[in-house]
Amino acid sequence: MGDASTNGRPETVGNPPATGPAVPGLDEAGLLLDVDGAVATVTLNRPERRNAMTFATWRGLAAIGRSLPAEVRVVVVRGAGPSFSAGIDLGMFSGDGGGLPDGSDAEAADRFIAELQEGYTWLRRPGIVTVAAVHGHAIGAGFQLALSCDIRVIADDAAFCMKEPALGLVPDLTGTKPLVEIAGIGRALELCLTARTVPADEAARIGLAETLVPRDGLDGAVRDLVDALLAVDAGAAAATKRLLWQAAGNTLEAQSAAERREQIGRLRALSAS
Ligand code: ACO
Repeated sequence: MGDASTNGRPETVGNPPATGPAVPGLDEAGLLLDVDGAVATVTLNRPERRNAMTFATWRGLAAIGRSLPAEVRVVVVRGAGPSFSAGIDLGMFSGDGGGLPDGSDAEAADRFIAELQEGYTWLRRPGIVTVAAVHGHAIGAGFQLALSCDIRVIADDAAFCMKEPALGLVPDLTGTKPLVEIAGIGRALELCLTARTVPADEAARIGLAETLVPRDGLDGAVRDLVDALLAVDAGAAAATKRLLWQAAGNTLEAQSAAERREQIGRLRALSAS
């Protein structure tokens, strides 16, 4: 990954990348970061645990978000081994996993969860486009991580499950908003409240994936997408991402005004170049 032959684009899922800027604690977090020019690849890298995630993982993701070099334009998020991610490390429920708050101090628990959510929210930043490359299981926190990305490319063995309600919890890693926006409230309720597994073909049909490819075509499809994203002007891409993400919450009037503002910025940038 990241050598001259790949020009910084993601390679096979079974061969995770290992280079990038020094971000403390990534090993403990079960994460790999490779940055090559405009492309960063974040690999969930605990394949022996199906990339189950701990507090360290979510803090590590947040640290990656804070450490990304300014030249990075596309971030690919993927999993090593057979699964994208099996969600929260179930060891964390058994007492030896790292102190889940019991909720008795609501303010402390709120701060605690907000800090973990920071591992996900940076993926919506306008200056980057984020791509989840999903194969195998994406469960709970793993499903929410895929939902936090702008675009999902999935293999035909992908399987999504919002398991939290089955464990007595709610999805709290910023996944409920994109799930409802993508699938609609009825489907989101049905998926969450049954905690059923959604196979790849259904996921693509209900909009959870932009692209569905055979398992051995995932890396190639992601490379093609990354190339296409990088071919578009960086300033126009950031401005358009800002516009599109606010569209659902805006009135037509407000959105039209936002389009005008962004276009004036683009016209100024173009005439200055
Ligand atoms: N936490 C900790 N360890 C896990 C997790 C997890 N979430 N998922 C898998 N593992 C471990 C297994 O215990 C097993 O360990 P072992 O080799 O020591 O026995 C190893 O990873 C491989 O798991 P298998 O179940 O053997 O792998 P398989 O490919 O057959 O199944 C699957 C994968 C479907 C992901 C299954 O492991 C599973 O259902 N895991 C639990 C998923 C879950 O409930 N996650 C919580 C979601 S809720 C939330 O994220 C907030």
